[in-house]
Amino acid sequence: MEGKISYGSSKEGWHDFIPYLKELIAQNNFKQVCDVGGGANPMLDKDYIESKSLEYTLLDISEEELNKAPDSYHKILADVASPDFKAEAKFDLIFSKMLAEHIYDAKQFHKNILNSLAPNGIAVHFFPTLFTFPFVVNYLIPERLANKLLNVFLPRDRYQYAKFPAYYHWCYGPSRKQLKRFTSLGYEIVEYRGYFGHSYYNRLKPLKKIHALKTRFLVKHPKPFFTSYAYAVLKKT
Ligand SMILES: C[S@@+](CC[C@H](N)C(=O)[O-])C[C@H]1O[C@@H](n2cnc3c(N)ncnc32)[C@H](O)[C@@H]1O
Repeated sequence: MEGKISYGSSKEGWHDFIPYLKELIAQNNFKQVCDVGGGANPMLDKDYIESKSLEYTLLDISEEELNKAPDSYHKILADVASPDFKAEAKFDLIFSKMLAEHIYDAKQFHKNILNSLAPNGIAVHFFPTLFTFPFVVNYLIPERLANKLLNVFLPRDRYQYAKFPAYYHWCYGPSRKQLKRFTSLGYEIVEYRGYFGHSYYNRLKPLKKIHALKTRFLVKHPKPFFTSYAYAVLKKT
């Protein structure tokens, strides 16, 4: 199990996600691909999808978010965490970015994903993790206040990158307990990568410096409890 666990900085996590997906697709010759919670921002662009002849599904619970994505995508409006969820196909690859923290019933969500994978199919989830301070704050405070704080610390285009309530259920670094959650559902853990650091202090120069030192320290001396983000790469066997 140890070899499957690795760590890095959050910069790498953000930078590497799309190349990581493309590598998996190329290595395994995956064709049926689902971008869950892709909403307004599909991860893979149309040129790439066409060049690899992918059947690419963009699935989201929000019609409003799906409408923001280009019309050329095949879109499915569905709640991926519903007990009644049934995928329209068996997928070779299902991935999500910044979705898992918004799901209340994490167990049902991961069960549904497992049921929607083809044999030997892979699920990849990239999500923020507890117990990084900004995410603990976001978890604890009312949504309206969290919205205001986000505008101060990390302003962004709220049309294309809207904010959604977050629960962080099953959103942790690679602790034993966390890995067990997935294996007990029937997944094989291909890889679990924890990332340290975040950009919420970028506007506060002194804090940013201290935070960068702390991040460097944690990358060298990793503890799953202090990750800020993670990739969970899970296989249906
Ligand atoms: C923070 S956005 C991430 C969008 C995109 N993946 C990205 O990285 O820009 C979260 C998305 O998850 C969708 N979502 C939340 N709960 C969902 C659920 N139960 N089923 C499907 N989609 C869901 C939201 O509608 C939203 O589009």
